[in-house]
Amino acid sequence: MAVIEVVDPSTEEAFASVPDVGVPGAVRAVDAAAGASSVWADTPPRTRSVVLRRAYELMVERTESLAETIVRENGKPIAEARGEVAYAAEFFRWFSEEAVRMHGSVVEAPAGGGKQMVLLQPVGVSYLITPWNFPAAMLTRKIGPALAAGCTVVAKPAAQTPLTAVAIEAILHRALAEAGVPEAVVNLVTSSDAKGVTAAVLGDPRVRKLSFTGSTEVGRLLLAQAAERVLNCSMELGGNAPFLVFADADMDAAVAGAMVAKLRHNGETCTAANRFFVEAPVADEFAGRLAVAMAELPVGPGLDPATRLGPLIDAAGLAKVERLVRAGVDGGARVLTGGGRPAHLERGWFHEATVLTDVPPDSPLLAEEVFGPVASITPFEPGEDVVARANEVEHGLIAYVFTGDVGRGLAVAERLEAGMVGVNKGVVSDPAAPFGGVKQSGLGREGGHEGLLAYTEAKYIAVDW
Ligand code: SIN
Repeated sequence: MAVIEVVDPSTEEAFASVPDVGVPGAVRAVDAAAGASSVWADTPPRTRSVVLRRAYELMVERTESLAETIVRENGKPIAEARGEVAYAAEFFRWFSEEAVRMHGSVVEAPAGGGKQMVLLQPVGVSYLITPWNFPAAMLTRKIGPALAAGCTVVAKPAAQTPLTAVAIEAILHRALAEAGVPEAVVNLVTSSDAKGVTAAVLGDPRVRKLSFTGSTEVGRLLLAQAAERVLNCSMELGGNAPFLVFADADMDAAVAGAMVAKLRHNGETCTAANRFFVEAPVADEFAGRLAVAMAELPVGPGLDPATRLGPLIDAAGLAKVERLVRAGVDGGARVLTGGGRPAHLERGWFHEATVLTDVPPDSPLLAEEVFGPVASITPFEPGEDVVARANEVEHGLIAYVFTGDVGRGLAVAERLEAGMVGVNKGVVSDPAAPFGGVKQSGLGREGGHEGLLAYTEAKYIAVDW
Protein backbone atom coordinates (compact mmCIF):
# COMPACT_ATOMS: atom_id res chain seq x y z
CA MET A 1 0.00 0.00 0.00
CA ALA A 2 1.30 3.48 -0.86
CA VAL A 3 1.92 5.69 2.16
CA ILE A 4 2.82 9.28 2.96
CA GLU A 5 5.79 9.45 5.31
CA VAL A 6 5.32 12.14 7.92
CA VAL A 7 8.54 13.95 8.78
CA ASP A 8 9.45 15.74 12.00
CA PRO A 9 10.83 19.14 10.90
CA SER A 10 13.08 19.33 13.96
CA THR A 11 14.93 16.08 13.10
CA GLU A 12 14.26 15.80 9.33
CA GLU A 13 13.29 12.16 9.99
CA ALA A 14 10.09 10.30 9.19
CA PHE A 15 8.30 9.13 12.34
CA ALA A 16 4.87 8.00 11.09
CA SER A 17 2.95 7.31 7.93
CA VAL A 18 -0.62 7.41 6.65
CA PRO A 19 -2.15 5.68 3.62
CA ASP A 20 -1.73 7.57 0.36
CA VAL A 21 -5.19 6.86 -1.03
CA GLY A 22 -4.68 8.74 -4.30
CA VAL A 23 -7.43 9.24 -6.89
CA PRO A 24 -9.30 5.99 -6.08
CA GLY A 25 -9.55 7.12 -2.44
CA ALA A 26 -10.79 10.53 -3.55
CA VAL A 27 -13.50 8.93 -5.70
CA ARG A 28 -14.58 6.76 -2.74
CA ALA A 29 -14.72 9.87 -0.55
CA VAL A 30 -16.91 11.75 -3.03
CA ASP A 31 -19.21 8.71 -3.36
CA ALA A 32 -19.55 8.59 0.43
CA ALA A 33 -20.11 12.35 0.81
CA ALA A 34 -22.66 12.40 -2.01
CA GLY A 35 -24.44 9.36 -0.53
CA ALA A 36 -24.79 11.03 2.87
CA SER A 37 -25.66 14.44 1.46
CA SER A 38 -29.45 14.37 1.64
CA VAL A 39 -29.50 12.60 5.03
CA TRP A 40 -27.28 15.31 6.50
CA ALA A 41 -29.12 18.18 4.82
CA ASP A 42 -32.37 16.79 6.29
CA THR A 43 -30.85 16.25 9.76
CA PRO A 44 -32.41 18.81 12.09
CA PRO A 45 -30.19 21.83 12.80
CA ARG A 46 -30.30 20.97 16.51
CA THR A 47 -28.75 17.54 15.82
CA ARG A 48 -26.10 19.12 13.61
CA SER A 49 -25.40 21.50 16.45
CA VAL A 50 -25.10 18.64 18.96
CA VAL A 51 -22.58 16.84 16.72
CA LEU A 52 -20.39 19.94 16.47
CA ARG A 53 -20.67 20.66 20.18
CA ARG A 54 -19.62 17.08 20.95
CA ALA A 55 -16.67 17.41 18.55
CA TYR A 56 -15.66 20.58 20.41
CA GLU A 57 -15.76 18.75 23.76
CA LEU A 58 -13.75 15.81 22.43
CA MET A 59 -11.12 18.14 21.00
CA VAL A 60 -10.78 19.93 24.31
CA GLU A 61 -10.50 16.59 26.17
CA ARG A 62 -7.78 15.47 23.75
CA THR A 63 -5.87 18.76 23.74
CA GLU A 64 -2.57 17.29 24.87
CA SER A 65 -2.39 14.48 22.32
CA LEU A 66 -3.59 16.73 19.49
CA ALA A 67 -1.03 19.39 20.43
CA GLU A 68 1.79 16.83 20.46
CA THR A 69 0.71 15.56 17.06
CA ILE A 70 0.74 19.12 15.70
CA VAL A 71 4.23 19.72 17.06
CA ARG A 72 5.62 16.46 15.69
CA GLU A 73 4.41 17.03 12.14
CA ASN A 74 4.42 20.83 11.95
CA GLY A 75 7.25 21.89 14.27
CA LYS A 76 5.58 24.77 16.14
CA PRO A 77 6.31 25.16 19.90
CA ILE A 78 4.07 23.06 22.16
CA ALA A 79 2.51 26.10 23.88
CA GLU A 80 1.43 27.41 20.47
CA ALA A 81 0.14 23.98 19.47
CA ARG A 82 -2.05 23.91 22.58
CA GLY A 83 -3.26 27.38 21.59
CA GLU A 84 -4.04 26.10 18.11
CA VAL A 85 -6.12 23.22 19.52
CA ALA A 86 -8.15 25.67 21.60
CA TYR A 87 -8.59 27.95 18.56
CA ALA A 88 -9.52 25.00 16.33
CA ALA A 89 -12.01 23.52 18.81
CA GLU A 90 -13.63 26.93 19.13
CA PHE A 91 -14.66 26.79 15.46
CA PHE A 92 -16.71 23.69 16.28
CA ARG A 93 -18.29 25.41 19.29
CA TRP A 94 -19.00 28.62 17.38
CA PHE A 95 -20.57 26.79 14.44
CA SER A 96 -22.53 24.48 16.75
CA GLU A 97 -24.18 27.71 17.91
CA GLU A 98 -24.60 29.03 14.35
CA ALA A 99 -26.18 25.76 13.11
CA VAL A 100 -29.50 26.75 14.69
CA ARG A 101 -29.30 30.32 13.36
CA MET A 102 -29.43 29.69 9.62
CA HIS A 103 -32.31 32.07 9.07
CA GLY A 104 -33.96 32.89 5.81
CA SER A 105 -36.67 35.55 5.54
CA VAL A 106 -40.23 36.21 4.43
CA VAL A 107 -41.09 39.76 3.42
CA GLU A 108 -43.97 41.54 1.77
CA ALA A 109 -43.04 42.25 -1.88
CA PRO A 110 -42.40 46.03 -2.11
CA ALA A 111 -44.86 46.34 -5.01
CA GLY A 112 -47.43 44.30 -3.08
CA GLY A 113 -49.29 41.29 -4.39
CA GLY A 114 -47.34 38.58 -2.62
CA LYS A 115 -44.58 37.51 -0.32
CA GLN A 116 -40.92 37.01 -1.05
CA MET A 117 -39.53 34.01 0.75
CA VAL A 118 -35.80 33.36 0.97
CA LEU A 119 -34.56 29.98 2.19
CA LEU A 120 -30.93 29.32 3.07
CA GLN A 121 -30.07 25.84 1.83
CA PRO A 122 -26.83 23.84 2.07
CA VAL A 123 -24.66 24.36 -1.00
CA GLY A 124 -23.93 20.62 -1.16
CA VAL A 125 -20.87 18.38 -1.14
CA SER A 126 -17.90 20.56 -0.26
CA TYR A 127 -14.24 19.95 -1.09
CA LEU A 128 -11.93 21.46 1.52
CA ILE A 129 -8.20 21.81 0.92
CA THR A 130 -6.25 22.73 4.04
CA PRO A 131 -2.65 23.84 4.61
CA TRP A 132 0.10 22.59 6.93
CA ASN A 133 0.61 25.76 8.99
CA PHE A 134 -2.50 25.27 11.15
CA PRO A 135 -3.26 21.57 10.62
CA ALA A 136 -6.15 21.65 13.12
CA ALA A 137 -7.62 25.15 12.90
CA MET A 138 -7.78 25.48 9.13
CA LEU A 139 -9.64 22.16 8.97
CA THR A 140 -12.18 22.98 11.68
CA ARG A 141 -12.67 26.50 10.26
CA LYS A 142 -14.01 24.84 7.09
CA ILE A 143 -15.64 21.65 8.44
CA GLY A 144 -17.46 23.54 11.24
CA PRO A 145 -19.54 25.81 8.98
CA ALA A 146 -19.98 23.15 6.29
CA LEU A 147 -21.53 20.73 8.77
CA ALA A 148 -23.54 23.46 10.48
CA ALA A 149 -25.07 24.44 7.12
CA GLY A 150 -25.92 20.83 6.25
CA CYS A 151 -23.13 20.08 3.76
CA THR A 152 -21.16 16.85 3.69
CA VAL A 153 -17.43 17.18 3.10
CA VAL A 154 -14.38 15.72 1.42
CA ALA A 155 -11.30 17.20 3.06
CA LYS A 156 -7.73 17.00 1.79
CA PRO A 157 -5.12 18.01 4.36
CA ALA A 158 -1.60 19.02 3.33
CA ALA A 159 0.69 16.04 2.75
CA GLN A 160 3.13 17.37 5.38
CA THR A 161 0.54 17.30 8.19
CA PRO A 162 -2.04 14.53 7.73
CA LEU A 163 -1.90 13.13 11.29
CA THR A 164 -3.77 15.99 12.98
CA ALA A 165 -6.47 15.71 10.32
CA VAL A 166 -6.78 11.95 10.89
CA ALA A 167 -7.22 12.60 14.64
CA ILE A 168 -9.90 15.25 13.99
CA GLU A 169 -11.71 12.99 11.54
CA ALA A 170 -11.86 10.29 14.27
CA ILE A 171 -13.35 12.85 16.67
CA LEU A 172 -16.00 13.86 14.14
CA HIS A 173 -16.83 10.26 13.29
CA ARG A 174 -17.36 9.52 16.97
CA ALA A 175 -19.57 12.60 17.39
CA LEU A 176 -21.59 11.66 14.29
CA ALA A 177 -21.96 8.03 15.42
CA GLU A 178 -23.13 9.10 18.88
CA ALA A 179 -25.85 11.17 17.18
CA GLY A 180 -26.85 8.22 14.99
CA VAL A 181 -25.75 9.94 11.79
CA PRO A 182 -23.60 8.31 9.06
CA GLU A 183 -19.85 8.84 9.41
CA ALA A 184 -19.79 9.45 5.63
CA VAL A 185 -20.75 13.06 6.38
CA VAL A 186 -17.00 13.67 6.86
CA ASN A 187 -14.43 12.08 4.54
CA LEU A 188 -10.68 12.60 4.59
CA VAL A 189 -8.41 12.10 1.60
CA THR A 190 -4.75 11.75 2.55
CA SER A 191 -2.66 11.83 -0.59
CA SER A 192 0.54 13.27 -1.97
CA ASP A 193 -1.11 13.46 -5.41
CA ALA A 194 -2.73 16.86 -4.82
CA LYS A 195 -3.22 17.55 -8.52
CA GLY A 196 -4.74 14.17 -9.39
CA VAL A 197 -7.04 14.13 -6.36
CA THR A 198 -8.20 17.70 -6.92
CA ALA A 199 -8.88 17.14 -10.62
CA ALA A 200 -10.95 14.05 -9.77
CA VAL A 201 -12.96 15.78 -7.05
CA LEU A 202 -13.54 19.07 -8.87
CA GLY A 203 -14.53 17.22 -12.02
CA ASP A 204 -17.30 15.33 -10.24
CA PRO A 205 -20.69 16.98 -10.82
CA ARG A 206 -21.87 15.98 -7.34
CA VAL A 207 -19.31 18.36 -5.77
CA ARG A 208 -20.67 21.92 -5.46
CA LYS A 209 -18.17 23.87 -3.37
CA LEU A 210 -14.43 24.41 -3.11
CA SER A 211 -12.80 25.99 -0.10
CA PHE A 212 -9.04 26.42 -0.16
CA THR A 213 -6.46 27.90 2.18
CA GLY A 214 -2.98 28.28 0.74
CA SER A 215 -0.88 30.38 -1.59
CA THR A 216 -2.26 32.89 -4.09
CA GLU A 217 -0.37 31.02 -6.83
CA VAL A 218 -2.19 27.74 -6.17
CA GLY A 219 -5.45 29.59 -5.51
CA ARG A 220 -5.38 31.04 -9.04
CA LEU A 221 -4.93 27.57 -10.55
CA LEU A 222 -7.77 26.16 -8.46
CA LEU A 223 -10.08 29.03 -9.40
CA ALA A 224 -9.40 28.33 -13.06
CA GLN A 225 -10.22 24.65 -12.51
CA ALA A 226 -13.34 25.48 -10.50
CA ALA A 227 -14.50 27.82 -13.27
CA GLU A 228 -15.00 24.78 -15.53
CA ARG A 229 -17.97 23.77 -13.40
CA VAL A 230 -18.78 27.24 -12.03
CA LEU A 231 -18.23 26.04 -8.48
CA ASN A 232 -18.99 28.09 -5.41
CA CYS A 233 -15.50 29.05 -4.13
CA SER A 234 -13.99 30.36 -0.92
CA MET A 235 -10.32 31.26 -1.15
CA GLU A 236 -8.10 32.20 1.76
CA LEU A 237 -4.84 33.03 0.03
CA GLY A 238 -1.49 34.67 0.70
CA GLY A 239 -0.77 37.85 2.58
CA ASN A 240 2.00 40.43 2.71
CA ALA A 241 0.90 42.32 5.78
CA PRO A 242 2.11 45.84 6.51
CA PHE A 243 2.78 46.70 10.17
CA LEU A 244 2.63 50.46 10.73
CA VAL A 245 4.13 52.04 13.84
CA PHE A 246 3.52 55.77 14.41
CA ALA A 247 5.82 57.77 16.68
CA ASP A 248 3.07 58.24 19.29
CA ALA A 249 2.59 54.48 19.74
CA ASP A 250 3.15 52.79 23.08
CA MET A 251 6.52 51.23 22.27
CA ASP A 252 6.08 48.27 24.64
CA ALA A 253 2.77 47.41 23.00
CA ALA A 254 4.19 47.90 19.49
CA VAL A 255 7.15 45.58 20.14
CA ALA A 256 4.94 42.96 21.84
CA GLY A 257 2.46 43.23 18.95
CA ALA A 258 5.27 42.88 16.42
CA MET A 259 6.63 39.78 18.14
CA VAL A 260 3.32 37.98 17.90
CA ALA A 261 2.32 39.34 14.48
CA LYS A 262 5.69 38.26 13.11
CA LEU A 263 6.53 35.08 15.01
CA ARG A 264 3.22 33.36 15.71
CA HIS A 265 3.68 29.79 14.49
CA ASN A 266 7.31 30.39 13.50
CA GLY A 267 6.33 33.21 11.14
CA GLU A 268 4.55 30.70 8.91
CA THR A 269 1.15 32.37 8.83
CA CYS A 270 -0.51 34.31 6.06
CA THR A 271 -1.37 36.89 8.71
CA ALA A 272 2.35 37.37 9.51
CA ALA A 273 3.61 40.97 9.49
CA ASN A 274 5.87 41.06 6.44
CA ARG A 275 6.68 44.76 5.96
CA PHE A 276 7.32 46.98 8.99
CA PHE A 277 6.94 50.72 8.33
CA VAL A 278 8.05 52.74 11.35
CA GLU A 279 7.86 56.54 11.68
CA ALA A 280 11.42 57.87 11.48
CA PRO A 281 11.72 59.41 14.99
CA VAL A 282 11.15 55.97 16.60
CA ALA A 283 12.46 53.67 13.87
CA ASP A 284 15.84 52.95 15.50
CA GLU A 285 14.33 52.46 18.94
CA PHE A 286 11.67 50.08 17.58
CA ALA A 287 14.18 48.09 15.50
CA GLY A 288 16.65 47.85 18.39
CA ARG A 289 14.02 46.70 20.87
CA LEU A 290 12.54 44.19 18.43
CA ALA A 291 16.02 42.80 17.74
CA VAL A 292 16.71 42.35 21.48
CA ALA A 293 13.37 40.58 22.03
CA MET A 294 13.95 38.30 19.04
CA ALA A 295 17.53 37.47 20.02
CA GLU A 296 16.32 36.29 23.43
CA LEU A 297 13.89 33.71 22.02
CA PRO A 298 14.92 30.12 22.69
CA VAL A 299 15.02 28.26 19.34
CA GLY A 300 14.70 24.47 19.31
CA PRO A 301 12.42 21.46 18.88
CA GLY A 302 8.79 22.31 19.54
CA LEU A 303 8.34 19.59 22.17
CA ASP A 304 10.93 21.23 24.43
CA PRO A 305 8.76 23.37 26.75
CA ALA A 306 11.42 26.11 26.74
CA THR A 307 11.22 26.56 22.95
CA ARG A 308 9.61 29.72 21.62
CA LEU A 309 10.67 29.34 17.98
CA GLY A 310 10.59 25.94 16.26
CA PRO A 311 11.81 24.73 12.86
CA LEU A 312 10.23 25.68 9.54
CA ILE A 313 8.05 23.10 7.84
CA ASP A 314 10.51 21.63 5.34
CA ALA A 315 13.71 22.11 3.35
CA ALA A 316 11.88 24.15 0.68
CA GLY A 317 10.40 26.49 3.30
CA LEU A 318 13.82 27.06 4.83
CA ALA A 319 15.48 27.55 1.43
CA LYS A 320 12.93 30.26 0.57
CA VAL A 321 13.60 32.17 3.79
CA GLU A 322 17.38 31.88 3.29
CA ARG A 323 17.06 33.09 -0.31
CA LEU A 324 15.03 36.15 0.71
CA VAL A 325 17.40 37.08 3.54
CA ARG A 326 20.37 36.73 1.18
CA ALA A 327 18.64 38.90 -1.42
CA GLY A 328 17.94 41.55 1.24
CA VAL A 329 21.53 41.59 2.48
CA ASP A 330 22.96 41.59 -1.06
CA GLY A 331 20.74 44.58 -1.78
CA GLY A 332 22.18 46.51 1.19
CA ALA A 333 19.96 45.54 4.17
CA ARG A 334 21.60 45.49 7.60
CA VAL A 335 21.17 42.48 9.91
CA LEU A 336 20.40 43.56 13.49
CA THR A 337 19.97 40.03 14.78
CA GLY A 338 19.82 36.50 13.37
CA GLY A 339 20.34 36.00 9.66
CA GLY A 340 20.83 32.25 9.34
CA ARG A 341 20.83 28.82 10.97
CA PRO A 342 21.18 28.81 14.78
CA ALA A 343 24.72 27.63 15.59
CA HIS A 344 23.61 25.09 18.21
CA LEU A 345 21.23 23.18 15.92
CA GLU A 346 22.81 20.95 13.30
CA ARG A 347 19.66 19.11 12.15
CA GLY A 348 16.17 20.37 11.50
CA TRP A 349 14.89 23.19 9.31
CA PHE A 350 15.68 25.97 11.77
CA HIS A 351 16.18 29.65 11.04
CA GLU A 352 17.04 32.32 13.57
CA ALA A 353 14.59 35.08 14.36
CA THR A 354 15.97 37.86 12.18
CA VAL A 355 15.62 41.63 12.07
CA LEU A 356 16.79 43.59 9.01
CA THR A 357 16.84 47.34 8.54
CA ASP A 358 17.67 49.56 5.54
CA VAL A 359 15.85 47.08 3.31
CA PRO A 360 15.83 48.49 -0.24
CA PRO A 361 12.29 49.25 -1.46
CA ASP A 362 12.64 46.90 -4.44
CA SER A 363 13.87 43.97 -2.33
CA PRO A 364 12.10 40.61 -2.81
CA LEU A 365 11.89 40.60 1.00
CA LEU A 366 9.14 43.22 0.72
CA ALA A 367 7.51 41.90 -2.44
CA GLU A 368 7.18 38.24 -1.40
CA GLU A 369 5.49 36.60 1.55
CA VAL A 370 8.51 35.44 3.61
CA PHE A 371 6.70 32.74 5.64
CA GLY A 372 9.45 32.66 8.24
CA PRO A 373 10.81 34.54 11.26
CA VAL A 374 12.21 37.56 9.41
CA ALA A 375 11.22 41.18 10.10
CA SER A 376 12.13 43.84 7.50
CA ILE A 377 11.99 47.39 8.82
CA THR A 378 11.67 50.52 6.71
CA PRO A 379 11.31 54.03 8.17
CA PHE A 380 8.75 56.58 6.91
CA GLU A 381 8.81 60.34 7.37
CA PRO A 382 6.21 62.16 9.51
CA GLY A 383 3.44 63.36 7.20
CA GLU A 384 4.36 60.87 4.48
CA ASP A 385 1.44 58.88 3.05
CA VAL A 386 2.55 55.55 4.49
CA VAL A 387 -0.87 54.00 3.80
CA ALA A 388 -0.28 54.38 0.07
CA ARG A 389 3.03 52.51 0.48
CA ALA A 390 1.34 49.83 2.56
CA ASN A 391 -1.27 49.37 -0.18
CA GLU A 392 1.29 49.00 -2.99
CA VAL A 393 1.22 45.17 -3.09
CA GLU A 394 -1.17 42.74 -4.80
CA HIS A 395 -2.19 41.17 -1.49
CA GLY A 396 -4.70 42.50 1.03
CA LEU A 397 -5.28 39.98 3.78
CA ILE A 398 -4.43 41.87 6.95
CA ALA A 399 -2.66 45.00 8.19
CA TYR A 400 -1.57 46.24 11.61
CA VAL A 401 -1.46 49.82 12.92
CA PHE A 402 0.11 50.94 16.20
CA THR A 403 -0.59 54.47 17.37
CA GLY A 404 -1.47 56.30 20.59
CA ASP A 405 -4.32 58.01 18.75
CA VAL A 406 -7.12 55.51 18.22
CA GLY A 407 -8.92 58.01 15.96
CA ARG A 408 -5.92 57.98 13.64
CA GLY A 409 -5.75 54.19 13.95
CA LEU A 410 -9.34 53.87 12.77
CA ALA A 411 -8.87 56.38 9.94
CA VAL A 412 -5.80 54.50 8.74
CA ALA A 413 -7.63 51.16 9.12
CA GLU A 414 -10.39 52.41 6.83
CA ARG A 415 -7.90 53.33 4.09
CA LEU A 416 -5.80 50.16 4.27
CA GLU A 417 -6.61 47.71 1.48
CA ALA A 418 -7.03 44.65 3.68
CA GLY A 419 -9.82 42.34 4.77
CA MET A 420 -8.73 42.65 8.40
CA VAL A 421 -6.89 45.29 10.41
CA GLY A 422 -5.42 45.06 13.91
CA VAL A 423 -5.38 48.46 15.63
CA ASN A 424 -2.87 48.21 18.48
CA LYS A 425 -3.30 44.42 18.27
CA GLY A 426 -0.86 41.83 16.89
CA VAL A 427 -3.44 39.02 16.54
CA VAL A 428 -7.00 39.47 15.32
CA SER A 429 -8.03 35.90 14.55
CA ASP A 430 -11.25 34.83 16.28
CA PRO A 431 -13.72 32.11 15.25
CA ALA A 432 -16.57 34.57 15.84
CA ALA A 433 -15.17 37.13 13.36
CA PRO A 434 -15.03 37.06 9.53
CA PHE A 435 -11.50 36.12 8.43
CA GLY A 436 -10.44 36.78 4.84
CA GLY A 437 -8.78 39.10 2.39
CA VAL A 438 -9.30 41.51 -0.48
CA LYS A 439 -7.37 41.87 -3.76
CA GLN A 440 -5.34 38.71 -4.45
CA SER A 441 -5.60 37.50 -0.87
CA GLY A 442 -8.85 35.72 -1.50
CA LEU A 443 -12.58 35.52 -1.88
CA GLY A 444 -15.15 35.17 0.87
CA ARG A 445 -14.87 34.97 4.63
CA GLU A 446 -14.39 32.18 7.14
CA GLY A 447 -15.56 32.33 10.74
CA GLY A 448 -18.31 34.55 12.11
CA HIS A 449 -21.84 34.34 10.72
CA GLU A 450 -20.35 35.03 7.27
CA GLY A 451 -18.49 31.72 7.55
CA LEU A 452 -21.80 29.87 7.75
CA LEU A 453 -23.28 31.77 4.79
CA ALA A 454 -20.34 30.60 2.66
CA TYR A 455 -21.84 27.09 2.73
CA THR A 456 -25.38 28.14 1.86
CA GLU A 457 -27.31 29.10 -1.23
CA ALA A 458 -30.16 31.60 -0.97
CA LYS A 459 -33.27 30.27 -2.66
CA TYR A 460 -35.90 32.89 -3.47
CA ILE A 461 -39.49 31.68 -3.66
CA ALA A 462 -42.10 34.17 -4.82
CA VAL A 463 -45.45 33.33 -3.27
CA ASP A 464 -48.85 34.52 -4.24
CA TRP A 465 -50.12 34.14 -0.69
C1 SIN B 1 -3.31 31.50 8.33
O1 SIN B 1 -2.23 31.99 8.48
O2 SIN B 1 -3.59 30.88 7.32
C2 SIN B 1 -4.39 31.59 9.36
C3 SIN B 1 -4.04 32.41 10.51
C4 SIN B 1 -5.15 32.50 11.52
O3 SIN B 1 -6.21 31.88 11.41
O4 SIN B 1 -4.95 33.23 12.46
